[in-house]
Amino acid sequence: MATLIGGIGTSHIPAIGGAIARGQQQEPYWKPFFDGFPPIRDWLATTRPDVMVVFYNDHGLNFFLDKMPTFAIGAAPEYRNADEGWGIPTLAPLRGEPELSWHLVNALVEQEFDIVSCQEMQVDHACSLPLKLLYPEGDYPVAVVPVCINTVQFPLPKARRVHALGKAVGEAIRTWDSSKKVAVVASGGLSHQLDGERAGFINKAFDLQFLDSMESNPEWATQFSIHELVEKAGTQGVELLMWLAMRGALAGAGPRVRKLHRNYHLPISNTATAVMALEVVQAGSR
Ligand code: DHB
Ligand code: FE
Repeated sequence: MATLIGGIGTSHIPAIGGAIARGQQQEPYWKPFFDGFPPIRDWLATTRPDVMVVFYNDHGLNFFLDKMPTFAIGAAPEYRNADEGWGIPTLAPLRGEPELSWHLVNALVEQEFDIVSCQEMQVDHACSLPLKLLYPEGDYPVAVVPVCINTVQFPLPKARRVHALGKAVGEAIRTWDSSKKVAVVASGGLSHQLDGERAGFINKAFDLQFLDSMESNPEWATQFSIHELVEKAGTQGVELLMWLAMRGALAGAGPRVRKLHRNYHLPISNTATAVMALEVVQAGSR
Protein backbone atom coordinates (compact mmCIF):
# COMPACT_ATOMS: atom_id res chain seq x y z
CA MET A 1 0.00 0.00 0.00
CA ALA A 2 1.06 3.61 -0.50
CA THR A 3 2.80 5.43 2.35
CA LEU A 4 1.65 8.82 3.60
CA ILE A 5 4.88 10.46 4.75
CA GLY A 6 3.66 13.82 6.05
CA GLY A 7 2.06 17.16 5.40
CA ILE A 8 3.16 20.67 4.52
CA GLY A 9 1.17 23.89 4.89
CA THR A 10 2.12 27.11 3.15
CA SER A 11 0.70 30.50 2.20
CA HIS A 12 0.29 31.22 -1.52
CA ILE A 13 0.27 34.99 -2.11
CA PRO A 14 0.57 35.79 -5.87
CA ALA A 15 3.31 38.36 -5.20
CA ILE A 16 5.58 35.44 -4.23
CA GLY A 17 5.56 34.44 -7.91
CA GLY A 18 6.80 37.90 -8.88
CA ALA A 19 9.52 37.82 -6.21
CA ILE A 20 10.74 34.42 -7.47
CA ALA A 21 10.78 35.67 -11.09
CA ARG A 22 12.84 38.72 -10.06
CA GLY A 23 15.19 36.70 -7.81
CA GLN A 24 14.31 38.77 -4.72
CA GLN A 25 14.45 35.91 -2.21
CA GLN A 26 17.35 37.46 -0.26
CA GLU A 27 15.96 41.00 -0.13
CA PRO A 28 14.97 42.22 3.35
CA TYR A 29 11.24 42.25 2.58
CA TRP A 30 11.23 38.67 1.29
CA LYS A 31 14.02 36.87 3.16
CA PRO A 32 12.04 36.14 6.37
CA PHE A 33 9.40 34.41 4.23
CA PHE A 34 11.68 32.43 1.91
CA ASP A 35 13.91 31.40 4.84
CA GLY A 36 11.08 29.16 6.01
CA PHE A 37 11.60 26.72 3.15
CA PRO A 38 15.17 25.24 3.12
CA PRO A 39 14.59 22.86 6.08
CA ILE A 40 11.48 21.53 4.35
CA ARG A 41 13.31 21.14 1.05
CA ASP A 42 15.99 19.15 2.91
CA TRP A 43 13.31 16.85 4.31
CA LEU A 44 11.83 16.37 0.81
CA ALA A 45 15.29 15.61 -0.59
CA THR A 46 15.65 12.86 2.02
CA THR A 47 12.13 11.41 1.97
CA ARG A 48 11.54 11.81 -1.79
CA PRO A 49 7.74 11.65 -2.10
CA ASP A 50 6.39 10.54 -5.49
CA VAL A 51 3.05 12.34 -5.29
CA MET A 52 1.65 15.41 -3.53
CA VAL A 53 -2.07 15.72 -2.84
CA VAL A 54 -2.58 19.50 -2.78
CA PHE A 55 -5.54 20.99 -0.89
CA TYR A 56 -6.05 24.46 -2.34
CA ASN A 57 -8.72 26.95 -3.34
CA ASP A 58 -9.22 28.11 -6.90
CA HIS A 59 -9.66 31.90 -7.01
CA GLY A 60 -11.75 32.26 -10.17
CA LEU A 61 -9.54 30.63 -12.81
CA ASN A 62 -10.90 27.11 -13.34
CA PHE A 63 -14.18 27.71 -11.50
CA PHE A 64 -15.98 31.02 -11.55
CA LEU A 65 -19.01 32.26 -9.65
CA ASP A 66 -21.39 30.66 -12.15
CA LYS A 67 -20.10 27.12 -11.38
CA MET A 68 -18.62 26.63 -7.94
CA PRO A 69 -18.12 23.10 -6.65
CA THR A 70 -17.68 22.71 -2.90
CA PHE A 71 -15.13 19.91 -3.37
CA ALA A 72 -13.43 19.08 -6.69
CA ILE A 73 -10.61 16.64 -7.44
CA GLY A 74 -8.36 16.80 -10.48
CA ALA A 75 -8.14 13.55 -12.44
CA ALA A 76 -5.99 14.75 -15.32
CA PRO A 77 -2.58 13.67 -16.61
CA GLU A 78 -1.40 17.29 -16.50
CA TYR A 79 -2.47 20.58 -14.91
CA ARG A 80 -1.57 23.77 -16.71
CA ASN A 81 -0.93 26.88 -14.68
CA ALA A 82 -2.48 30.20 -15.64
CA ASP A 83 -2.74 33.52 -13.88
CA GLU A 84 -6.21 34.84 -13.18
CA GLY A 85 -5.10 38.44 -13.21
CA TRP A 86 -2.17 39.12 -10.87
CA GLY A 87 0.39 39.77 -13.60
CA ILE A 88 2.71 36.98 -12.44
CA PRO A 89 4.65 34.59 -14.68
CA THR A 90 3.03 31.31 -15.63
CA LEU A 91 4.81 28.33 -14.10
CA ALA A 92 5.47 24.92 -15.66
CA PRO A 93 2.56 22.45 -15.93
CA LEU A 94 2.20 19.98 -13.09
CA ARG A 95 2.23 16.25 -13.83
CA GLY A 96 -0.89 14.41 -12.66
CA GLU A 97 -1.34 10.96 -11.11
CA PRO A 98 -4.77 9.93 -12.44
CA GLU A 99 -4.62 6.50 -10.81
CA LEU A 100 -4.51 8.09 -7.34
CA SER A 101 -7.04 10.73 -8.41
CA TRP A 102 -9.63 8.10 -9.31
CA HIS A 103 -8.85 6.08 -6.21
CA LEU A 104 -9.55 9.21 -4.13
CA VAL A 105 -12.73 10.07 -6.05
CA ASN A 106 -14.06 6.53 -5.62
CA ALA A 107 -13.11 6.33 -1.94
CA LEU A 108 -14.59 9.73 -1.12
CA VAL A 109 -17.89 9.14 -2.90
CA GLU A 110 -18.08 5.80 -1.07
CA GLN A 111 -17.63 7.80 2.16
CA GLU A 112 -20.55 10.05 1.10
CA PHE A 113 -18.51 13.09 0.02
CA ASP A 114 -20.00 14.35 -3.24
CA ILE A 115 -17.00 15.17 -5.38
CA VAL A 116 -16.74 16.90 -8.76
CA SER A 117 -14.12 15.00 -10.78
CA CYS A 118 -12.18 17.11 -13.29
CA GLN A 119 -10.42 15.41 -16.19
CA GLU A 120 -9.35 18.85 -17.37
CA MET A 121 -8.32 21.48 -14.89
CA GLN A 122 -6.23 24.63 -14.93
CA VAL A 123 -4.55 25.57 -11.66
CA ASP A 124 -3.86 29.05 -10.29
CA HIS A 125 -1.21 30.45 -7.92
CA ALA A 126 -2.63 28.48 -5.00
CA CYS A 127 -1.62 25.17 -6.59
CA SER A 128 1.43 26.26 -8.60
CA LEU A 129 3.32 28.39 -6.03
CA PRO A 130 3.66 25.74 -3.30
CA LEU A 131 5.33 23.40 -5.80
CA LYS A 132 7.70 26.14 -6.94
CA LEU A 133 8.52 27.04 -3.31
CA LEU A 134 9.22 23.41 -2.42
CA TYR A 135 11.17 22.63 -5.60
CA PRO A 136 12.68 25.93 -6.77
CA GLU A 137 15.12 24.35 -9.20
CA GLY A 138 14.36 22.40 -12.35
CA ASP A 139 11.61 19.89 -13.01
CA TYR A 140 9.31 18.86 -10.20
CA PRO A 141 10.13 15.30 -9.06
CA VAL A 142 6.53 14.77 -7.90
CA ALA A 143 3.16 14.28 -9.55
CA VAL A 144 0.17 16.06 -8.03
CA VAL A 145 -3.48 15.45 -7.25
CA PRO A 146 -5.21 18.82 -6.76
CA VAL A 147 -8.11 18.83 -4.29
CA CYS A 148 -10.01 22.09 -4.61
CA ILE A 149 -12.11 23.34 -1.67
CA ASN A 150 -14.41 26.33 -2.14
CA THR A 151 -13.44 29.28 0.04
CA VAL A 152 -14.49 31.87 -2.54
CA GLN A 153 -18.28 31.90 -2.82
CA PHE A 154 -20.69 31.31 0.03
CA PRO A 155 -21.88 28.93 1.27
CA LEU A 156 -18.49 27.48 2.23
CA PRO A 157 -18.05 23.98 3.67
CA LYS A 158 -17.79 23.94 7.46
CA ALA A 159 -14.44 23.46 9.17
CA ARG A 160 -15.57 20.14 10.66
CA ARG A 161 -16.63 18.89 7.24
CA VAL A 162 -13.32 19.89 5.66
CA HIS A 163 -11.40 18.14 8.42
CA ALA A 164 -13.50 15.02 7.80
CA LEU A 165 -12.80 15.27 4.07
CA GLY A 166 -9.08 15.41 4.81
CA LYS A 167 -9.37 12.40 7.07
CA ALA A 168 -11.09 10.43 4.31
CA VAL A 169 -8.38 11.49 1.84
CA GLY A 170 -5.68 10.29 4.26
CA GLU A 171 -7.41 6.93 4.71
CA ALA A 172 -7.79 6.57 0.94
CA ILE A 173 -4.12 7.34 0.32
CA ARG A 174 -3.20 4.56 2.73
CA THR A 175 -5.41 2.07 0.87
CA TRP A 176 -4.01 2.96 -2.57
CA ASP A 177 -2.48 -0.21 -4.00
CA SER A 178 0.87 1.31 -4.84
CA SER A 179 4.42 1.35 -3.50
CA LYS A 180 4.55 5.14 -3.91
CA LYS A 181 5.18 7.72 -1.19
CA VAL A 182 2.62 10.49 -0.84
CA ALA A 183 2.73 13.86 0.94
CA VAL A 184 -0.26 16.12 1.55
CA VAL A 185 0.03 19.88 1.05
CA ALA A 186 -2.22 22.69 2.30
CA SER A 187 -2.11 25.96 0.37
CA GLY A 188 -3.60 29.11 1.87
CA GLY A 189 -3.84 31.48 4.82
CA LEU A 190 -3.09 32.43 7.35
CA SER A 191 -5.08 35.50 8.42
CA HIS A 192 -5.81 38.01 5.66
CA GLN A 193 -8.62 40.10 4.28
CA LEU A 194 -8.33 41.68 0.84
CA ASP A 195 -11.65 43.49 0.64
CA GLY A 196 -14.17 45.64 2.50
CA GLU A 197 -13.81 47.85 5.54
CA ARG A 198 -11.40 45.45 7.25
CA ALA A 199 -9.04 45.13 4.23
CA GLY A 200 -5.55 44.49 5.58
CA PHE A 201 -6.88 42.76 8.71
CA ILE A 202 -4.41 40.33 10.31
CA ASN A 203 -4.79 38.42 13.60
CA LYS A 204 -1.41 37.21 14.84
CA ALA A 205 -2.69 35.83 18.16
CA PHE A 206 -5.24 33.65 16.36
CA ASP A 207 -2.71 32.49 13.75
CA LEU A 208 -0.21 31.40 16.38
CA GLN A 209 -2.90 29.53 18.29
CA PHE A 210 -3.96 27.87 15.05
CA LEU A 211 -0.39 26.80 14.26
CA ASP A 212 0.02 25.43 17.80
CA SER A 213 -3.20 23.48 17.36
CA MET A 214 -1.78 21.72 14.29
CA GLU A 215 0.60 19.99 16.72
CA SER A 216 -1.20 19.76 20.01
CA ASN A 217 -4.93 19.80 19.31
CA PRO A 218 -5.51 19.27 15.58
CA GLU A 219 -9.30 19.52 15.68
CA TRP A 220 -9.30 22.78 17.69
CA ALA A 221 -10.38 24.99 14.78
CA THR A 222 -13.27 22.69 13.82
CA GLN A 223 -15.25 24.18 16.73
CA PHE A 224 -15.66 27.44 14.76
CA SER A 225 -18.38 28.26 12.24
CA ILE A 226 -17.36 29.82 8.93
CA HIS A 227 -18.56 33.22 10.15
CA GLU A 228 -16.47 32.89 13.29
CA LEU A 229 -13.45 31.97 11.17
CA VAL A 230 -14.02 35.02 8.95
CA GLU A 231 -14.25 37.16 12.07
CA LYS A 232 -11.03 35.72 13.51
CA ALA A 233 -8.91 35.24 10.39
CA GLY A 234 -10.40 37.57 7.75
CA THR A 235 -12.51 36.90 4.67
CA GLN A 236 -9.63 35.22 2.84
CA GLY A 237 -8.16 33.83 6.05
CA VAL A 238 -10.77 31.07 5.75
CA GLU A 239 -8.19 29.51 3.45
CA LEU A 240 -6.91 27.95 6.66
CA LEU A 241 -9.54 25.29 5.92
CA MET A 242 -6.86 23.76 3.66
CA TRP A 243 -4.62 23.26 6.68
CA LEU A 244 -7.46 21.50 8.48
CA ALA A 245 -7.86 19.13 5.53
CA MET A 246 -4.12 18.44 5.43
CA ARG A 247 -4.04 17.79 9.18
CA GLY A 248 -7.13 15.58 8.90
CA ALA A 249 -5.34 13.48 6.28
CA LEU A 250 -2.47 12.88 8.69
CA ALA A 251 -4.89 11.90 11.44
CA GLY A 252 -6.61 9.35 9.20
CA ALA A 253 -5.10 6.12 10.49
CA GLY A 254 -4.21 7.51 13.89
CA PRO A 255 -0.44 7.74 13.48
CA ARG A 256 1.81 9.99 15.48
CA VAL A 257 2.79 13.23 13.84
CA ARG A 258 6.01 15.16 14.52
CA LYS A 259 6.61 18.80 13.69
CA LEU A 260 9.68 19.21 11.49
CA HIS A 261 9.64 22.94 10.94
CA ARG A 262 7.50 26.04 11.27
CA ASN A 263 7.87 29.66 10.17
CA TYR A 264 5.51 32.63 10.61
CA HIS A 265 6.09 36.07 9.15
CA LEU A 266 3.90 39.07 8.45
CA PRO A 267 3.01 40.77 6.35
CA ILE A 268 3.68 39.67 2.82
CA SER A 269 1.34 41.79 0.73
CA ASN A 270 -1.86 41.73 2.85
CA THR A 271 -1.27 38.34 4.41
CA ALA A 272 0.23 36.78 7.52
CA THR A 273 2.33 33.95 6.10
CA ALA A 274 3.10 30.57 7.57
CA VAL A 275 4.86 27.45 6.46
CA MET A 276 4.92 24.24 8.44
CA ALA A 277 5.95 20.63 7.87
CA LEU A 278 4.60 17.68 9.85
CA GLU A 279 6.07 14.21 9.50
CA VAL A 280 4.17 10.97 10.06
CA VAL A 281 6.06 8.74 12.47
CA GLN A 282 5.71 5.41 10.70
CA ALA A 283 4.74 2.34 12.68
CA GLY A 284 7.84 0.53 13.88
CA SER A 285 10.08 3.62 13.85
CA ARG A 286 10.90 5.68 16.91
C1 DHB B 1 -3.16 37.78 -1.50
C2 DHB B 1 -3.34 36.63 -0.72
C3 DHB B 1 -4.00 35.52 -1.26
O1 DHB B 1 -4.25 34.37 -0.56
C4 DHB B 1 -4.45 35.54 -2.58
O2 DHB B 1 -5.03 34.43 -3.07
C5 DHB B 1 -4.28 36.68 -3.34
C6 DHB B 1 -3.63 37.80 -2.81
C7 DHB B 1 -2.43 38.98 -0.97
O3 DHB B 1 -2.19 39.09 0.25
O4 DHB B 1 -2.03 39.83 -1.80
FE1 FE C 1 -5.59 33.01 -1.73
